[in-house]
Amino acid sequence: MSVEPSFSPQLAPGATLIEVASASHDCTRCGLAAGRTQVVFGVGNPDADLMFVGEGPGAQEDLQGIPFVGRAGGLLTQLIEGIGLTRDDVYIANVVKCRPPGNRDPLPDEIAACSPWLDRQLELIAPKVVVTLGNFATKLLLQTKDGITKLRGKEFTYERAGNRAVLVPTFHPSAVLRSGGTALAQARADFVTVKRVLARVGG
Ligand code: URA
Repeated sequence: MSVEPSFSPQLAPGATLIEVASASHDCTRCGLAAGRTQVVFGVGNPDADLMFVGEGPGAQEDLQGIPFVGRAGGLLTQLIEGIGLTRDDVYIANVVKCRPPGNRDPLPDEIAACSPWLDRQLELIAPKVVVTLGNFATKLLLQTKDGITKLRGKEFTYERAGNRAVLVPTFHPSAVLRSGGTALAQARADFVTVKRVLARVGG
């Protein structure tokens, strides 16, 4: 991993989300920079009460520069719409902002190198509810070794980058697509939990 000496995840204090996004586009903090088409920073409402955190861009996301636009993205969109929201109401980001080659799992040093960008997103968007999609986002944001099957659908209070929110883990949409039936029903149930939490915290 090569860390650019000039990199400042803080940028100037007071930088806006657009400025942070723009700074991310030249990021070379880890080896994923070499294989990407572009940085996939995040998309959605910068004042969202609800933020989703996935794993990392796939092939379609790498080409389009937008998270969750492939098959898994289609399911995520359905689940969001299933609780009466649209993608424009929420913010969607990933743990790593560049596509891991061949869609492999992101490596620990890549996650560590990229996490300042996610921290700035959490700080500036300040969501009231964070939904982690799958193991990577859940383990990073809850700093746990427990897996998604144990944690999904539960509510956690978490504090990171000055943001205090309720965190609800659920399955990654790609895992739901692979497993089908029961996992889909569980993901739908988790989204109903998210809707209830949002109503309670004023989102
Ligand atoms: N999977 C992810 O975790 N993120 C995306 O953006 C797309 C697929």
